[in-house]
Amino acid sequence: MARVRLMVQRVAATTIPALIHGESGTGKELIARLLHAHSPWRSGPFVQVNCPALPASLVESELFGYERGAFTGAATPKPGRVEMADGGTLFLDEIGDFALDLQAKLLQLLQDGHFARIGAHAEQHVRARVVCASNRDLARDVERGQFRRDLYYRINAVVIELPPLRERAEDIPALTQYFLRQYEAKFQRSAPPLSAAAQQALRDYAWPGNIRQLQNVIKRLVILGTEDVIAHELASRSDDELGFDLDRASDMSLKEITRAAVDKLEKIVIARSLRQNNWNRRRVSRSLKISYRALLYKIKKFELPAKRGTAPAEDAD
Ligand SMILES: Nc1ncnc2c1ncn2[C@@H]1O[C@H](COP(=O)(O)OP(=O)(O)OP(=O)(O)O)[C@@H](O)[C@H]1O
Ligand SMILES: [Mg+2]
Repeated sequence: MARVRLMVQRVAATTIPALIHGESGTGKELIARLLHAHSPWRSGPFVQVNCPALPASLVESELFGYERGAFTGAATPKPGRVEMADGGTLFLDEIGDFALDLQAKLLQLLQDGHFARIGAHAEQHVRARVVCASNRDLARDVERGQFRRDLYYRINAVVIELPPLRERAEDIPALTQYFLRQYEAKFQRSAPPLSAAAQQALRDYAWPGNIRQLQNVIKRLVILGTEDVIAHELASRSDDELGFDLDRASDMSLKEITRAAVDKLEKIVIARSLRQNNWNRRRVSRSLKISYRALLYKIKKFELPAKRGTAPAEDAD
């Protein structure tokens, strides 16, 4: 964490783009806010765009805004988040999930600060520090044609790498103490002192949900006041990781369980690829290396939306 903090101090003073890379729950958003808080433009706004949280068809108008009459329903003009970030920081969360045609527009924004509202004749100019975050391996996405190479080189001028918690187990005791104090103050109660065994268990655990997961365990510990929550969390997560409820599967055969688990994974992978490729099914079939026919079959079988704009399927991550 000390290394990350040093990096943040150095980078924050500039206004060049920064990319924060790390698994889910490692603190990417926290670092993005820290960069803003220490930047020359800290008195300006911090504007977040969370791509996966928005349906694909809405991302562009959310981002760039629109003029009156740009499309049916656009009765009054609306500024986008890009515009709102003028003089501050624009935080593009999960940038790896932006569709390719939007990536082209982002590239222009990063190159010269220009963009246009949907349906506008003239371009506008913004001055904003762009901070991106991703839990994906963007270099690999570039190789696979899922992420624009030119955009990648624009955003990765500075990369802040947030290691998973399991690779910095030495930070666990300090984080644990920090969250204990935080929640004891918040809920006005004190947690029982942690046994040596519980402390060791916390250090040895792999923390797939990283700091957020640790934070939630400690929160429950303070609320429920018993160390049992730790043992429970550390044991139950290994089942969740399968994305599959083993208790409910108790009367299924091994073969059925395996098939259901594989289906679940396939559905997640295809849904994500559809989103990344802007629902271009030819591209999805090439990128996943399955035939076009097989892809259509699976889209139907998993009841995935065939076009952008229809409600996108649930993505487990
Ligand atoms: N160094 C830290 N000290 C204390 N709390 C932290 C630290 N880093 C992260 N957290 C807390 O952990 C939680 C997860 O952090 P954050 O939302 O920034 O992660 P993330 O990488 O953006 O996760 P995701 O990929 O799921 O969006 C937040 O509640 C945050 O406040
Ligand atoms: Mg986040």
